[in-house]
Amino acid sequence: MSHVVVTGAQGFVGRALVKRLLADGLGARAVSKLTLLDIAFDAPHADARVTQIAGSIADADVRAQAYASSVDAVFHLASIPGGAAERDYALGRAINLDATLGLLEDLRGQPRPPRFVFASTVAVYGESLPAVVDENTLPAPALSYGAHKLMGEALVADATRLGWVQGCSLRLPGVVARPGDGAGLMSAFMSQLFWKLAANEALTVPVSPDGVAWWISVGACVGNLLHVASVDVDRFNARRSYPMPVLRLTISEVVDALAARYGEARKALVSYAPDPFVERLFARYPPLLTPEAERLGLRHDGDVDQLITRAMAQ
Ligand SMILES: NC(=O)c1ccc[n+]([C@@H]2O[C@H](COP(=O)([O-])OP(=O)(O)OC[C@H]3O[C@@H](n4cnc5c(N)ncnc54)[C@H](O)[C@@H]3O)[C@@H](O)[C@H]2O)c1
Repeated sequence: MSHVVVTGAQGFVGRALVKRLLADGLGARAVSKLTLLDIAFDAPHADARVTQIAGSIADADVRAQAYASSVDAVFHLASIPGGAAERDYALGRAINLDATLGLLEDLRGQPRPPRFVFASTVAVYGESLPAVVDENTLPAPALSYGAHKLMGEALVADATRLGWVQGCSLRLPGVVARPGDGAGLMSAFMSQLFWKLAANEALTVPVSPDGVAWWISVGACVGNLLHVASVDVDRFNARRSYPMPVLRLTISEVVDALAARYGEARKALVSYAPDPFVERLFARYPPLLTPEAERLGLRHDGDVDQLITRAMAQ
């Protein structure tokens, strides 16, 4: 029986993770208590195992409430996205960096070091990617968001060395298909392709059809987060950090597969208005080689059809 804490539980990945934790447990263990942290919640949760704590992870009292009974695992997903963190440096630092350290330090008193799974990002690699990215590629973040996530990875590894937690950071690529309008995210088009074509609605994407991106469904992403929360800790690398395996697909490959599923005529719903800035950030990805992550048991969706099936299963 486990007590699991999820920060950012109301977010896109958090909601899917919470559903899976309640349905499937964590590894071989059932979840007996699930503490959800977020700024606010839409509604009380129906499951009696769930406690919702509305407040900021930057607030030590809020963290103390979440850790009031002994904790077996923490999934740290709360964050300020890249654009917002760039507009408000202090907020980005407070949540993406300082609160991550707070969440780790506050676990020092636990009877046993809990598993600590940190959602990092491929944004740690920055803009000038080499011809191939692999697990030895040195990160070079181009935004404070990526820099703070990279520092968070180092904090997770150090807290592990200190015996406070058993940590692991996973670098997430663009996760699909986020519902809604994307809340101003520049990468929103990646998810909107799925929802709009399924709903038979037109959309204009800010990249070219041959733009190539790294993709993972929210289902596969959650599967990987859960996997590192229960895999034998002796199998982790010393950095305690892995890129998630991805499918590398062009926009037109995704559009073609969506059209094959929902109707060929839907291809015509997509128009292209490439914006060089967006194209450079989100549609010029080289191959990403992840043999170490795959040996650990991390997985991408396998093929574009599975990507669509899992992206839409929410
Ligand atoms: N979704 C992606 O494509 C993607 C890609 C790379 C990395 N990531 C990382 O994965 C994690 C989850 O992503 P997501 O898409 O679910 O993000 P999201 O923005 O949908 O959810 C993040 C949640 O964190 C909450 N939050 C923000 N500040 C908080 C605070 N001070 N205290 C408590 N909660 C706070 C927000 O309210 C939100 O519900 C994030 O850490 C993100 O950086 C996501």
